Amino acid sequence: MSIEVLREGSLFHLRTLRTSYVFGLNPANRLQHFYYGKRIEDASMVCARAFNPSPASFNPRRPGEPGNGTPDQLPQEYSGVNSGDMRLPALEVQTADGALWADARYVSHEISSCKRPLNGLPQSFGGKAPEGMTQLALNLKDESTGVEVVLLYTVFEECDVIARSVVVTNCSDKAVRLGRVMSTQVDLIGKSDYDFVNTFGSWSRERHVEKTPLHFGLQMAGSVRGATGHVHTPAFLLSSPGATETAGEVFGFMLCYSGNHYESAEVEQFGGVRVQLGIHPELFSWHLEPGESFETPEAFMTVSADGFGQMSRNFHDFIRSHVIRSPWNGRQRPILVNNWEATYFDFDAQKIIDIATEASKLNIEMLVLDDGWFGHRNNDKSSLGDWYEFKSKVGDMADLAGAIHKLGMKFGLWYEPEMISEESDLYAAHPDWVLCVPGRPRCYGRTQLILDFSREEVVQHLYEVMSSMISKAKIDYIKWDMNRNMTDVFCSTLPPERQGEVAHRYIMGVYRLHDMLIETFPELLIEGCSGGGGRFDAGMMYYLPQIWCSDNTDAMDRLAIQAGTSMFYPVASMGAHINAQHQPWRFIPFETRGNVAMAGTFGYELDLTKLTDEEKETTVRLNASYHRYHDTISEGDYYRLTDAFKKNDVEAWCAVSKDRSQAVLTAVRRTKEGYISNQSQFKVPGLDASRSYRMTVNGKETELVYPGDVLMNYGIWTMELPWADCVSAVYLFEAID
Ligand code: GLA
Repeated sequence: MSIEVLREGSLFHLRTLRTSYVFGLNPANRLQHFYYGKRIEDASMVCARAFNPSPASFNPRRPGEPGNGTPDQLPQEYSGVNSGDMRLPALEVQTADGALWADARYVSHEISSCKRPLNGLPQSFGGKAPEGMTQLALNLKDESTGVEVVLLYTVFEECDVIARSVVVTNCSDKAVRLGRVMSTQVDLIGKSDYDFVNTFGSWSRERHVEKTPLHFGLQMAGSVRGATGHVHTPAFLLSSPGATETAGEVFGFMLCYSGNHYESAEVEQFGGVRVQLGIHPELFSWHLEPGESFETPEAFMTVSADGFGQMSRNFHDFIRSHVIRSPWNGRQRPILVNNWEATYFDFDAQKIIDIATEASKLNIEMLVLDDGWFGHRNNDKSSLGDWYEFKSKVGDMADLAGAIHKLGMKFGLWYEPEMISEESDLYAAHPDWVLCVPGRPRCYGRTQLILDFSREEVVQHLYEVMSSMISKAKIDYIKWDMNRNMTDVFCSTLPPERQGEVAHRYIMGVYRLHDMLIETFPELLIEGCSGGGGRFDAGMMYYLPQIWCSDNTDAMDRLAIQAGTSMFYPVASMGAHINAQHQPWRFIPFETRGNVAMAGTFGYELDLTKLTDEEKETTVRLNASYHRYHDTISEGDYYRLTDAFKKNDVEAWCAVSKDRSQAVLTAVRRTKEGYISNQSQFKVPGLDASRSYRMTVNGKETELVYPGDVLMNYGIWTMELPWADCVSAVYLFEAID
């Protein structure tokens, strides 16, 4: 049983394959955290001599706290405000008299093998192994305000993940206002010498991992951009000093949400670290009338005793098995060609058919028509919102789609559903549908405004126009873009006390549109995008199986972006394409561009009609390799073989199939240093030591058969990696016994 209740209902042990999470009740009915880490079998003794720092007289307490204890020194599962805990609260409630108050204590608990659904939010589900999932609900009550809190813990045994979320209900007879309501809080004991690892970035430089030692006070990441943003992904890690890919303790925390997010680690006076993740409290408040409830997004947590690699694989397995629900999950995705970098806005139907005709000869399986097919859009200044075809440019969309389908290919369309141009028919008809504060100047981003997705009629309209085009032209795929940060957050139909709800209501509207489309078109493959990888998060993955990783398609720059993304998210979710050699600052061989793109959902972002014969040959070969390696790369175990925290002369990664019968190792040399050729040695991880493997290099079989233990412990030398800049080699190992 993955949830054990010990000591007459006062101690809870959540157990996964390799981890234990232990907390219990203190005599004041507060939930006290005891342990999170490597699995222990019997948790009954962890509270016998628990962490108990000596109190100071100035630490306030209400009557009834046990011994000398004060809430400020207690590691707590979910802290309140104005109640003696001086660290950042998980919950802040403002009652009708204006008081800020939250002091919810344990009342009861239930354990269930089905998970309570979260209304309209992305969420983990039973997926491929529902029998490994159990949920604990703890019911808490704040007696003096009547506010009730349910803490939900779902244990996913086989991938070492615990999902948490919180439901707050106003059971009083007056309205209250929530100011801060975190999805999770973990008061880790000690650990103040750990490192804080998160990703930073900007447009075209997404998710570069950064590691800094924790220090006293608050370390945080987040977004108030209305979406996940390019700057921080909604996830972070805490790693033990010196942790590597294969050794050391690494905690992983992730929010399943795509709006304004908040992640923090607060090193407090006794050396503990308070971890919190939730909706960003800035630009947020929620009004609860009597009887109303608020549900937080879910947060996921994992811990690995074997370094960053195992932590990542826990999240990868979890997301693939319990978050991505598209029927495309686990299936080979069509190899696509997208016309954006080939044509930008300068195309017509014939140009698109020419690219598709060439693509079909090269075994590319889908044509994606990007920005510029709708309204009268020939640049980025008009037409967002007018989601009907630009007839004089592309003709009737059903005809164009029909021509592509006739070539035996799938057909996809770009949309930016959440946006509106002032120069559009939609704006002329509904100028009040945009987010703006009446009477105040507006911000523009890429000359566009944002539709108020907190309004149901806006979401319904988008559903109608999109679904009629999808039906009419038999669209197979949508690239769902979102190309600016959110400002002017105000909804003209909500009362003043609900204006703090707009940003969250907006993203709930986005989720609702996704839900409606998926329900009507279950086979529709949707790829997320936001100026590249500006909305890359587990929340979106609940609705769509893949997200465009970055507008930066330079294969050398992609190395850091994809390695950083892989810290949290599976390779199967990362949109990665081969681009044209258009960067004047370095030459990257076509093959290397392909080998890097293959560590993602594979495709092309170039004008195929301009390829040389040699490039065409390579294209056909790469496409065959993608099919051959897909299951291992996308569905197997992923290992970073080089340090993700720095740029290495040679970068390498390896994917191993779950049955350990196949491994694909890719090595890329960024730069050659000096005049003497140098080779690298890499161990091939995750194989079966007792089996033998035949090696194939760059698609050519060799006579070499290695014992698994030799590959795993001695490894291989990358002799085939040429002594040049930006070159690559791919090693395939297939079990022969
Ligand atoms: C964003 C996307 C690009 C492309 C353009 C079109 O920047 O990330 O891939 O679709 O929009 O305007």
